Amino acid sequence: MLVVLSGLPGVGKTTLARELARSLGAPHVRVDAFEAALGLRDGDGDPTGYRLAHVLARDALRSGRHAVLDAVNPVRAARDGWRALAAEVGVPLLEVDVTCSDPAVHERRVRERTADLPGHVVPTWESVTARPAWQRDADEPPAVVVDTATTTVARAVADLRARVDAHPEQVVVPASLLAPGHRFGSWAARGEPEVVLETERLLLRRWREADLEPFAAMNADPQVMEHFASGPLDREASDGLARYADACFEVHGYGLAAVERKDDGAFLGFCGLGRHRRRPDAVEVGWRLARSAWGHGYATEAGRAWLTAAPGSGLERVACFVATSNGRSLAVARRLGLEVVEEDVWAGQPVTVLATQP
Ligand SMILES: CC(C)(COP(=O)(O)OP(=O)(O)OC[C@H]1O[C@@H](n2cnc3c(N)ncnc32)[C@H](O)[C@@H]1OP(=O)(O)O)[C@@H](O)C(=O)NCCC(=O)NCCS
Repeated sequence: MLVVLSGLPGVGKTTLARELARSLGAPHVRVDAFEAALGLRDGDGDPTGYRLAHVLARDALRSGRHAVLDAVNPVRAARDGWRALAAEVGVPLLEVDVTCSDPAVHERRVRERTADLPGHVVPTWESVTARPAWQRDADEPPAVVVDTATTTVARAVADLRARVDAHPEQVVVPASLLAPGHRFGSWAARGEPEVVLETERLLLRRWREADLEPFAAMNADPQVMEHFASGPLDREASDGLARYADACFEVHGYGLAAVERKDDGAFLGFCGLGRHRRRPDAVEVGWRLARSAWGHGYATEAGRAWLTAAPGSGLERVACFVATSNGRSLAVARRLGLEVVEEDVWAGQPVTVLATQP
């Protein structure tokens, strides 16, 4: 995801961007830094700093990472430039307008600011107030607004982080496939089978519109979502995740299949292969079932089918990233013969990485 933080100098963008980037393990792409190195000043109208920031952000996004962009973005062309970049690379965009609603706090921050970059000329309060008011045009997409006068850095970063985590994007799936217009069932027009794999009790199949409702119900269940940083998902995020799960098949030939019980046709959740947001180089096996479907061995049965099929699809090694606190999921991975290869910490949460043996 490309996260773009915009706003006047001194509102607190850079502190926020730096902390968010640290939390996401993403580069902090700061236009100021390029302008300082080039001897330019924000407001000169020279777009070279923005151009260099585009190059860096594009590289990060193409390599499968998030990028956190930090710039004043005072004109429509600058903001449209980030939108075009996100569309070009095929990643979602989170636009964040950083403001400071208390002029006294804003003034103090600007006056007390010292240069933290060689060559950086810190703007004066007079130059900040002389700028035209920072505002979006009425026809621009809405942004998340962070008012640094009324929140803390930690709270704002946690909120933005949750928005990034809740987004089902994976850089390897083009944004067009993730759009609300994504048509479930497009496989049928191409003559591809709906059922991808079949086990004794389950069908692992492509998604249907009718899955969205039970899927949203399970994603809204706090027990199902206990080990995810996002917490329970709202309907929009749940539908987006279903689109992602289905779109993976279009892009990779494998994906996160809907799990259907053969006996009664009930939708139980998903199980399949995808690319992990933090490790787009690795193919991940994942599972998520409705609470009522736990304790029957369904996840293990579905996961085994995928791991059996994977080598035939040219996948040498499949990984699994599990919150270390998620005992049930770790048990599934172990039952499938995956072995722990790494212990890591993401966003302050311990994560166990397991993988099939090469
Ligand atoms: C992770 C998750 C899929 C595990 O589900 P699960 O039902 O515990 O796992 P399995 O399908 O392998 O079922 C194993 C259980 O079924 C029991 N079982 C019953 N009949 C069985 C059968 N025929 N075959 C195998 N196991 C059977 C096993 O004894 C075991 O029970 P236990 O948990 O009491 O030991 C489920 O907890 C979940 O969806 N969690 C929320 C989402 C999530 O965390 N996803 C993982 C993110 S990394």
